[in-house]
Amino acid sequence: MNRSLPNVILGGYGTSSTGTGKPMEITGTHTEINVDGTVDLIEDAKNIIIVPGYGLCVAKAQYPIAEMVDLLTKKGKNVRFGIHPVAGRMPGQLNVLLAEAGVPYDVVLEMDELNDDFPETDLALIIGANDTVNSAAEEDPNSIIAGMPVLRVWLAKQCIVMKRTLGVGYAAVDNPVFFKPNTSMLLGDAKKTCDALLQNLKQRTEEEP
Ligand code: TAP
Repeated sequence: MNRSLPNVILGGYGTSSTGTGKPMEITGTHTEINVDGTVDLIEDAKNIIIVPGYGLCVAKAQYPIAEMVDLLTKKGKNVRFGIHPVAGRMPGQLNVLLAEAGVPYDVVLEMDELNDDFPETDLALIIGANDTVNSAAEEDPNSIIAGMPVLRVWLAKQCIVMKRTLGVGYAAVDNPVFFKPNTSMLLGDAKKTCDALLQNLKQRTEEEP
């Protein structure tokens, strides 16, 4: 007893290395994308999975993203949210925020319900999430989060990560996803970024013949 909920769910990952060697070094450079380029990818995609995390909660980005999902669903796109069991900082935090913003329950799925769907997903939009999408958990046996269940966003055809920097999350582990060739970083505050994405998408929709 006296274990925190994340510790219980993740079985103590992030507290000590499970391997014998040094964690893998992350090599390569990251790619950045702007709002216009991101909306191009959103418009081209048919299947989209959004993975929200703690950064969405602090920024209060759930309102523009809820409106954007409504718009995209009306355009015939398959847009779903993937929620990690310990996303955010409280149990159920993301589910409550998305419900409050009016996101329908049937598009908000638990990690295990859609984690096998990433290879058939055109676009993964990661909004203020980091540890819960860290590929080191599966790719680096010497990582302190090795074996931790994560959302396999990097298997989607394209990944856009929205956060302010390339910095670490709660578990303080670097994330190789930010440096993968199919990932682009959309850097900035999640609320400002989601507001800008929504405005851009609305404008394009109004200009449609
Ligand atoms: P994290 O791994 O903590 O990552 C959140 C990311 O959000 C940060 O890397 C940060 O990057 C970004 N961020 C912060 N403010 C932002 C803003 N205004 N706009 C855009 N991005 C912002 O979050 P996660 O993926 O949700 O994972 C949760 C973590 O918390 C897990 O390690 C979990 O074990 C732990 N935890 C969970 C709970 C429960 S019960 N859910 C309780 C305690 C701890 P930048 O600074 O670069 O923006």
